[in-house]
Amino acid sequence: MKWARLEIKVPIESTEILKGFLIGKGIDKWEENGGLRIYMVLDETLSSFLAELQKFLLQNTLKENISWTISLSVLEEHKWESKWREAFTLRKVGEKLVIKPPWIEYEPKEEEIVLEIEPRSAFGTGEHPSTRLCLSLMEKFLKKDSIVLDVGCGSGILSLAAALLGAGKVIGIDIDEMAVRESEENASRLGLGDKVVFLHGNLLKDIPTTKADLILCNIDLPSLRAIFPYLTYYLKPGGILVASGFTEEGYKMLDVPDYLEEMEKMKEDDWVGVAWRMKTASK
Ligand SMILES: C[S@@+](CC[C@H](N)C(=O)[O-])C[C@H]1O[C@@H](n2cnc3c(N)ncnc32)[C@H](O)[C@@H]1O
Repeated sequence: MKWARLEIKVPIESTEILKGFLIGKGIDKWEENGGLRIYMVLDETLSSFLAELQKFLLQNTLKENISWTISLSVLEEHKWESKWREAFTLRKVGEKLVIKPPWIEYEPKEEEIVLEIEPRSAFGTGEHPSTRLCLSLMEKFLKKDSIVLDVGCGSGILSLAAALLGAGKVIGIDIDEMAVRESEENASRLGLGDKVVFLHGNLLKDIPTTKADLILCNIDLPSLRAIFPYLTYYLKPGGILVASGFTEEGYKMLDVPDYLEEMEKMKEDDWVGVAWRMKTASK
Protein backbone atom coordinates (compact mmCIF):
# COMPACT_ATOMS: atom_id res chain seq x y z
CA MET A 1 0.00 0.00 0.00
CA LYS A 2 1.37 3.46 -0.93
CA TRP A 3 0.68 6.60 1.04
CA ALA A 4 0.52 10.28 0.21
CA ARG A 5 1.38 13.19 2.46
CA LEU A 6 -0.72 16.28 1.77
CA GLU A 7 0.39 19.68 3.03
CA ILE A 8 -2.56 22.06 3.00
CA LYS A 9 -1.43 25.62 3.71
CA VAL A 10 -4.17 28.04 4.66
CA PRO A 11 -4.07 31.17 6.84
CA ILE A 12 -4.24 30.39 10.55
CA GLU A 13 -7.80 31.74 10.88
CA SER A 14 -9.02 29.25 8.24
CA THR A 15 -7.63 26.08 9.87
CA GLU A 16 -10.75 25.41 11.98
CA ILE A 17 -13.05 25.46 8.97
CA LEU A 18 -10.58 23.19 7.13
CA LYS A 19 -10.62 20.77 10.09
CA GLY A 20 -14.43 20.73 9.87
CA PHE A 21 -14.20 19.77 6.20
CA LEU A 22 -11.68 17.00 6.93
CA ILE A 23 -13.78 15.56 9.75
CA GLY A 24 -16.75 15.53 7.37
CA LYS A 25 -14.60 13.40 5.05
CA GLY A 26 -13.76 10.96 7.83
CA ILE A 27 -10.24 12.29 8.58
CA ASP A 28 -9.57 12.74 12.29
CA LYS A 29 -5.80 13.02 12.39
CA TRP A 30 -3.50 15.81 11.21
CA GLU A 31 -0.31 17.60 12.11
CA GLU A 32 -0.36 21.38 12.43
CA ASN A 33 2.55 23.02 10.66
CA GLY A 34 1.33 26.47 9.67
CA GLY A 35 -1.48 24.66 7.88
CA LEU A 36 -2.53 21.03 8.16
CA ARG A 37 -0.58 17.97 7.13
CA ILE A 38 -2.52 14.75 6.54
CA TYR A 39 -1.66 11.26 5.38
CA MET A 40 -3.84 9.25 3.04
CA VAL A 41 -3.73 5.96 1.20
CA LEU A 42 -2.65 6.57 -2.38
CA ASP A 43 -5.47 4.85 -4.23
CA GLU A 44 -8.27 5.64 -6.67
CA THR A 45 -10.25 7.58 -4.05
CA LEU A 46 -7.51 10.20 -3.62
CA SER A 47 -8.26 12.11 -6.84
CA SER A 48 -11.94 12.60 -5.95
CA PHE A 49 -10.90 13.69 -2.43
CA LEU A 50 -8.47 16.24 -3.92
CA ALA A 51 -11.16 17.56 -6.27
CA GLU A 52 -13.56 18.05 -3.34
CA LEU A 53 -10.84 19.67 -1.22
CA GLN A 54 -9.98 22.12 -4.01
CA LYS A 55 -13.64 22.94 -4.55
CA PHE A 56 -14.09 23.54 -0.83
CA LEU A 57 -11.02 25.78 -0.59
CA LEU A 58 -12.04 27.70 -3.71
CA GLN A 59 -15.55 28.30 -2.40
CA ASN A 60 -14.19 29.62 0.87
CA THR A 61 -11.40 31.74 -0.60
CA LEU A 62 -13.69 33.39 -3.15
CA LYS A 63 -15.63 34.87 -0.26
CA GLU A 64 -12.65 35.68 1.95
CA ASN A 65 -10.03 36.55 -0.68
CA ILE A 66 -7.31 34.37 0.88
CA SER A 67 -4.55 32.21 -0.59
CA TRP A 68 -3.93 28.50 -0.10
CA THR A 69 -1.74 25.73 -1.48
CA ILE A 70 -1.88 21.95 -1.50
CA SER A 71 1.24 19.88 -2.08
CA LEU A 72 1.42 16.11 -2.32
CA SER A 73 4.39 13.80 -1.66
CA VAL A 74 4.34 10.06 -2.21
CA LEU A 75 5.87 8.25 0.76
CA GLU A 76 8.03 5.20 0.81
CA GLU A 77 6.16 2.56 2.71
CA HIS A 78 8.69 1.68 5.41
CA LYS A 79 9.27 5.33 6.40
CA TRP A 80 5.56 5.98 6.47
CA GLU A 81 4.71 2.86 8.47
CA SER A 82 6.86 3.82 11.45
CA LYS A 83 5.61 7.43 11.42
CA TRP A 84 2.02 6.23 11.21
CA ARG A 85 2.41 3.72 14.00
CA GLU A 86 3.87 6.25 16.42
CA ALA A 87 0.55 8.11 16.38
CA PHE A 88 -1.49 5.21 17.81
CA THR A 89 -1.52 4.13 21.39
CA LEU A 90 -3.49 1.76 23.55
CA ARG A 91 -6.55 3.45 25.05
CA LYS A 92 -8.86 2.45 27.84
CA VAL A 93 -12.36 3.78 27.12
CA GLY A 94 -15.22 3.68 29.62
CA GLU A 95 -15.21 0.85 32.18
CA LYS A 96 -14.32 -2.19 30.08
CA LEU A 97 -13.14 -1.37 26.59
CA VAL A 98 -9.50 -1.25 25.58
CA ILE A 99 -8.82 -0.09 22.01
CA LYS A 100 -5.49 -0.99 20.51
CA PRO A 101 -3.71 -1.30 17.16
CA PRO A 102 -2.55 -4.84 16.21
CA TRP A 103 1.15 -4.17 16.86
CA ILE A 104 0.70 -3.38 20.56
CA GLU A 105 0.58 -6.45 22.79
CA TYR A 106 -1.77 -6.25 25.75
CA GLU A 107 -2.90 -8.77 28.37
CA PRO A 108 -6.45 -7.72 29.39
CA LYS A 109 -7.47 -7.60 33.03
CA GLU A 110 -10.44 -9.71 34.09
CA GLU A 111 -13.22 -7.24 33.25
CA GLU A 112 -11.62 -5.79 30.14
CA ILE A 113 -12.66 -6.31 26.54
CA VAL A 114 -10.00 -5.64 23.91
CA LEU A 115 -10.99 -4.21 20.54
CA GLU A 116 -8.22 -4.35 17.98
CA ILE A 117 -8.57 -1.85 15.14
CA GLU A 118 -6.20 -1.68 12.20
CA PRO A 119 -5.79 2.06 11.50
CA ARG A 120 -6.26 2.65 7.79
CA SER A 121 -8.08 5.36 5.86
CA ALA A 122 -11.53 5.30 7.44
CA PHE A 123 -12.30 7.43 10.50
CA GLY A 124 -12.51 5.54 13.78
CA THR A 125 -9.34 4.46 15.55
CA GLY A 126 -10.35 5.56 19.04
CA GLU A 127 -8.01 8.54 18.80
CA HIS A 128 -10.82 11.08 18.40
CA PRO A 129 -12.88 12.25 21.41
CA SER A 130 -16.21 11.89 19.56
CA THR A 131 -15.55 8.17 19.00
CA ARG A 132 -14.64 7.70 22.65
CA LEU A 133 -17.76 9.58 23.81
CA CYS A 134 -19.95 7.23 21.74
CA LEU A 135 -18.11 4.19 23.09
CA SER A 136 -18.50 5.32 26.70
CA LEU A 137 -22.20 6.09 26.29
CA MET A 138 -22.76 2.81 24.46
CA GLU A 139 -21.12 0.90 27.28
CA LYS A 140 -23.65 2.45 29.67
CA PHE A 141 -26.78 1.93 27.62
CA LEU A 142 -26.23 -1.22 25.54
CA LYS A 143 -28.33 -4.18 26.65
CA LYS A 144 -27.38 -7.79 26.00
CA ASP A 145 -28.71 -9.30 22.74
CA SER A 146 -30.07 -5.96 21.55
CA ILE A 147 -30.24 -4.77 17.93
CA VAL A 148 -27.82 -1.92 17.19
CA LEU A 149 -27.65 0.44 14.21
CA ASP A 150 -24.38 2.34 13.61
CA VAL A 151 -24.93 5.23 11.19
CA GLY A 152 -21.63 6.44 9.70
CA CYS A 153 -19.66 3.34 10.69
CA GLY A 154 -16.25 4.53 9.37
CA SER A 155 -13.74 1.82 10.37
CA GLY A 156 -16.57 -0.11 12.06
CA ILE A 157 -15.22 0.69 15.52
CA LEU A 158 -18.58 1.36 17.21
CA SER A 159 -20.30 -1.63 15.56
CA LEU A 160 -17.50 -3.98 16.53
CA ALA A 161 -17.42 -2.66 20.09
CA ALA A 162 -21.20 -3.18 20.31
CA ALA A 163 -20.80 -6.80 19.17
CA LEU A 164 -18.04 -7.41 21.72
CA LEU A 165 -20.12 -5.80 24.47
CA GLY A 166 -22.99 -8.24 23.88
CA ALA A 167 -25.28 -6.87 21.15
CA GLY A 168 -27.25 -9.58 19.37
CA LYS A 169 -27.17 -8.04 15.89
CA VAL A 170 -25.39 -4.95 14.58
CA ILE A 171 -25.95 -3.11 11.30
CA GLY A 172 -23.34 -0.53 10.30
CA ILE A 173 -23.93 1.81 7.36
CA ASP A 174 -21.74 4.38 5.62
CA ILE A 175 -22.03 6.49 2.48
CA ASP A 176 -18.33 5.86 1.85
CA GLU A 177 -17.72 2.54 0.09
CA MET A 178 -14.14 2.33 1.28
CA ALA A 179 -15.25 2.70 4.92
CA VAL A 180 -17.64 -0.23 4.44
CA ARG A 181 -14.81 -2.35 3.01
CA GLU A 182 -12.53 -1.51 5.94
CA SER A 183 -15.32 -2.24 8.44
CA GLU A 184 -15.89 -5.66 6.85
CA GLU A 185 -12.17 -6.43 6.98
CA ASN A 186 -11.99 -5.43 10.65
CA ALA A 187 -15.05 -7.59 11.42
CA SER A 188 -13.70 -10.69 9.73
CA ARG A 189 -10.26 -10.26 11.34
CA LEU A 190 -12.01 -10.26 14.73
CA GLY A 191 -14.30 -13.16 13.82
CA LEU A 192 -17.41 -11.00 14.28
CA GLY A 193 -18.75 -11.42 10.74
CA ASP A 194 -21.85 -13.38 11.83
CA LYS A 195 -23.05 -10.71 14.28
CA VAL A 196 -22.27 -7.57 12.31
CA VAL A 197 -23.31 -6.58 8.81
CA PHE A 198 -22.05 -3.48 6.99
CA LEU A 199 -24.02 -1.75 4.25
CA HIS A 200 -22.99 0.89 1.80
CA GLY A 201 -25.58 3.58 1.39
CA ASN A 202 -28.05 6.03 2.62
CA LEU A 203 -30.01 5.45 5.79
CA LEU A 204 -33.49 5.94 4.40
CA LYS A 205 -32.99 4.25 1.05
CA ASP A 206 -30.81 1.29 1.85
CA ILE A 207 -31.63 0.12 5.37
CA PRO A 208 -34.49 -2.28 5.88
CA THR A 209 -36.98 -0.86 8.37
CA THR A 210 -35.47 -2.81 11.24
CA LYS A 211 -36.17 -1.09 14.56
CA ALA A 212 -33.11 -0.87 16.75
CA ASP A 213 -32.75 -0.86 20.53
CA LEU A 214 -29.70 1.38 20.22
CA ILE A 215 -28.63 3.75 17.44
CA LEU A 216 -25.08 5.12 17.32
CA CYS A 217 -24.36 8.13 15.14
CA ASN A 218 -21.00 9.88 15.19
CA ILE A 219 -21.01 12.11 12.13
CA ASP A 220 -20.23 15.75 11.36
CA LEU A 221 -22.82 18.31 12.41
CA PRO A 222 -24.24 19.26 8.97
CA SER A 223 -24.78 15.57 8.10
CA LEU A 224 -26.21 14.85 11.54
CA ARG A 225 -28.64 17.77 11.29
CA ALA A 226 -29.80 16.50 7.90
CA ILE A 227 -30.56 12.96 9.06
CA PHE A 228 -31.45 13.63 12.70
CA PRO A 229 -35.26 13.73 12.19
CA TYR A 230 -35.16 10.35 10.39
CA LEU A 231 -32.96 8.47 12.86
CA THR A 232 -35.85 7.91 15.22
CA TYR A 233 -37.83 6.01 12.54
CA TYR A 234 -35.36 3.24 13.23
CA LEU A 235 -35.56 3.40 17.02
CA LYS A 236 -37.86 1.25 19.14
CA PRO A 237 -39.94 3.02 21.79
CA GLY A 238 -37.74 3.02 24.88
CA GLY A 239 -34.66 2.67 22.65
CA ILE A 240 -31.55 4.81 22.98
CA LEU A 241 -29.98 7.17 20.45
CA VAL A 242 -26.32 8.05 21.05
CA ALA A 243 -24.79 10.84 18.95
CA SER A 244 -21.56 12.80 18.86
CA GLY A 245 -19.48 14.77 16.38
CA PHE A 246 -20.48 18.22 17.63
CA THR A 247 -19.42 20.82 20.18
CA GLU A 248 -21.63 22.53 22.77
CA GLU A 249 -22.43 25.22 20.17
CA GLY A 250 -23.31 22.57 17.60
CA TYR A 251 -25.52 20.79 20.12
CA LYS A 252 -27.67 23.92 20.38
CA MET A 253 -28.19 23.74 16.62
CA LEU A 254 -29.70 20.24 16.77
CA ASP A 255 -33.46 20.15 16.52
CA VAL A 256 -34.20 17.57 19.20
CA PRO A 257 -37.82 16.40 19.04
CA ASP A 258 -39.72 16.34 22.34
CA TYR A 259 -40.19 12.56 22.16
CA LEU A 260 -36.45 12.21 22.81
CA GLU A 261 -35.56 12.51 26.47
CA GLU A 262 -31.96 13.39 27.28
CA MET A 263 -30.48 10.66 29.48
CA GLU A 264 -26.83 11.65 29.64
CA LYS A 265 -24.47 14.20 28.18
CA MET A 266 -20.69 13.73 28.27
CA LYS A 267 -17.85 16.02 27.23
CA GLU A 268 -14.26 15.49 26.24
CA ASP A 269 -12.16 18.49 25.19
CA ASP A 270 -14.58 20.57 23.10
CA TRP A 271 -16.59 17.55 21.96
CA VAL A 272 -19.99 16.52 23.25
CA GLY A 273 -21.77 13.14 23.22
CA VAL A 274 -25.41 12.68 24.13
CA ALA A 275 -27.70 9.73 24.83
CA TRP A 276 -31.45 10.21 24.44
CA ARG A 277 -34.26 7.77 25.17
CA MET A 278 -37.22 7.50 22.80
CA LYS A 279 -40.34 8.21 24.88
CA THR A 280 -42.92 7.17 22.27
CA ALA A 281 -42.92 5.98 18.68
CA SER A 282 -42.10 8.78 16.19
CA LYS A 283 -44.90 9.95 13.93
C1 LIG B 1 -16.73 10.88 12.07
S1 LIG B 1 -16.79 9.39 11.13
C2 LIG B 1 -17.29 8.24 12.42
C3 LIG B 1 -16.67 6.87 12.29
C4 LIG B 1 -16.93 5.95 13.47
N1 LIG B 1 -18.35 5.64 13.59
C5 LIG B 1 -16.45 6.56 14.79
O1 LIG B 1 -17.29 6.80 15.67
O2 LIG B 1 -15.23 6.77 14.95
C6 LIG B 1 -18.26 9.68 10.23
C7 LIG B 1 -18.57 8.67 9.13
O3 LIG B 1 -19.91 8.95 8.72
C8 LIG B 1 -20.02 8.79 7.32
N2 LIG B 1 -21.21 9.58 6.93
C9 LIG B 1 -21.35 10.92 6.82
N3 LIG B 1 -22.62 11.24 6.52
C10 LIG B 1 -23.32 10.08 6.46
C11 LIG B 1 -24.68 9.72 6.19
N4 LIG B 1 -25.58 10.65 5.91
N5 LIG B 1 -25.02 8.43 6.21
C12 LIG B 1 -24.12 7.46 6.49
N6 LIG B 1 -22.81 7.72 6.73
C13 LIG B 1 -22.42 9.00 6.73
C14 LIG B 1 -18.67 9.26 6.79
O4 LIG B 1 -18.41 8.69 5.54
C15 LIG B 1 -17.71 8.77 7.89
O5 LIG B 1 -17.20 7.49 7.59
